[in-house]
Amino acid sequence: MDMDKLVSLCKRRGFLFQSSEIYGGLNGFWDYGPLGVELKRNVREAWWQDMVRGHDELDAPPGAPEPFEMVGLDCTIIMHPQVWKCSGHYDLFHDFMVDCRESKKRYRHDQVHGRWVEAKEQRIFVATQAGGEEGEADAQQRALKFFNLRSKDAERLAWQGPLVSLTEIHDFSNVLGPDAKELGTLTPPREFNLMFKTYVGALSGEEGAAFLRPETAQGIFVNFKNVCDSTRVRVPFGIAQMGKSFRNEITPRNFTFRSREFEQMEIEFFCHPKASPEWYKFWRDRRYQWYLDLGLAGERLRLRDHDADELSHYSCGTADIEYAFPFLPPGEFGELEGIAHRGDFDLRSHMEGKLVRQGDELVVETGEDGKPHHRGSGKDLTYRDDLTNERFTPHVIEPSAGADRATLAFLCQAYTEDEAPDEKGKMQTRVVMKFHPRIAPIKAAVFPLVKKDGMPEVAKKIYLALKKRFNVFYDEKGAVGRRYRRQDEAGTPYCITVDGQTLEDRTVTVRDRDSLKQWRVSVDECPDEIARLIENPGAS
Ligand code: GAP
Repeated sequence: MDMDKLVSLCKRRGFLFQSSEIYGGLNGFWDYGPLGVELKRNVREAWWQDMVRGHDELDAPPGAPEPFEMVGLDCTIIMHPQVWKCSGHYDLFHDFMVDCRESKKRYRHDQVHGRWVEAKEQRIFVATQAGGEEGEADAQQRALKFFNLRSKDAERLAWQGPLVSLTEIHDFSNVLGPDAKELGTLTPPREFNLMFKTYVGALSGEEGAAFLRPETAQGIFVNFKNVCDSTRVRVPFGIAQMGKSFRNEITPRNFTFRSREFEQMEIEFFCHPKASPEWYKFWRDRRYQWYLDLGLAGERLRLRDHDADELSHYSCGTADIEYAFPFLPPGEFGELEGIAHRGDFDLRSHMEGKLVRQGDELVVETGEDGKPHHRGSGKDLTYRDDLTNERFTPHVIEPSAGADRATLAFLCQAYTEDEAPDEKGKMQTRVVMKFHPRIAPIKAAVFPLVKKDGMPEVAKKIYLALKKRFNVFYDEKGAVGRRYRRQDEAGTPYCITVDGQTLEDRTVTVRDRDSLKQWRVSVDECPDEIARLIENPGAS
């Protein structure tokens, strides 16, 4: 699939716009248009329904060791600054960046690649931001330019080894930066904390400093005791939250994939330490299946266990659910969701103070004076099982998803070009967004075949009846074939047409977006038929 076509459809049909576009846009920020807002809302609602509201605490879902409860939470974006000191984000949530003195551009150190090449008795490292074949082609173009060679002299470039990460290069004096014409213009890598800083109240100094949350998870940990005390949840149970998170990404890119403002959908699942490996496996499999059930194709979706050196500072095991986004080089996957076994790191950090790993142990990090480097709340965040009387700090399994990334994956998966007959039966190429009906922005469109003979009146009545239950669209403008095409591009799974026969027998045609099959349904049964199809899309 050509990503440019999807990006242009998103703008043209109102899925996604660049934020503040009339002022030239703001890098890393995106707005959802009228169709996009419905799509993303449906993704979030599907997650909330499947993970929280629709969850049956009396019956264990397939693969779960036992029944469990799920509850929700909605915390603030700005929290006490100590939260981020104890969570590790204040000291550790950074990327390394390099600046280019010549182009004035800034890059994430680990996202720059390059190749060594020799020509005219000079050996240089040509850096590029692109990966795979695209990166190699870019390096070749820029090497030719640097050595003042023409394309036909490309064989005079002696390449040494494949593309490697800039992180493997220690001396930048022979590095040609990704947008530079001269050598040695990249600065040494520097740490850059990704949290957005702000000031609370009238205090503009460090006393008033606070941060926009870089993840929703910490709001759940600091409310663990409140939830236990105010509800009757018993371990094992999960707390879910969705909402905005902010990260001052050095190089936001790939449409909404890496944004500076985005939404997360996170679950913290609290369980007994001994049962945690089983729950980790359950959540990995369950979350993977969720994406499949909503239509992501198995061959483009994978579950990948992290290598030990990839694990976050808190994690004893993490798996990523990854999708083969079309903007990535062939064979590469991008993260949709991480499922992490966080052990008792977070609850203990908020009790005792920021923890660090010492061998196999997590211990409170201390300063030179022997006192905690970042003091915890001192509150008791342990749990007492009232049946066994055992007191312990629960271990946590965290399935952490991005609502915008999931929405982007559903957009990429949906984009299809195929052939459909026009009014005269002639096959025409059409663009169709094949969303799963549960997440489709518009569930059904209602058309009168022609704008006369009482058809619009009947169609409007059907539209109003459907509107009480679903997001539906009424259209009487233009040829019916054109109206179908517009709904195909919007991803509307069902189109309902009022025609001459409707006036005789009160039936309408329902057209399926993907199979193009049409069948007749009575006007009165239309809302139930659409509800049945959304839940069970194959049933038409
Ligand atoms: N609490 C754990 C946590 O935040 P993460 O892997 O940093 O883990 C979880 O983020 C998910 O949030 C990612 O899998 C991704 O879907 C989404 N996400 C993270 N950074 C993002 C960004 N800059 N833009 C869009 N989505 C992002």
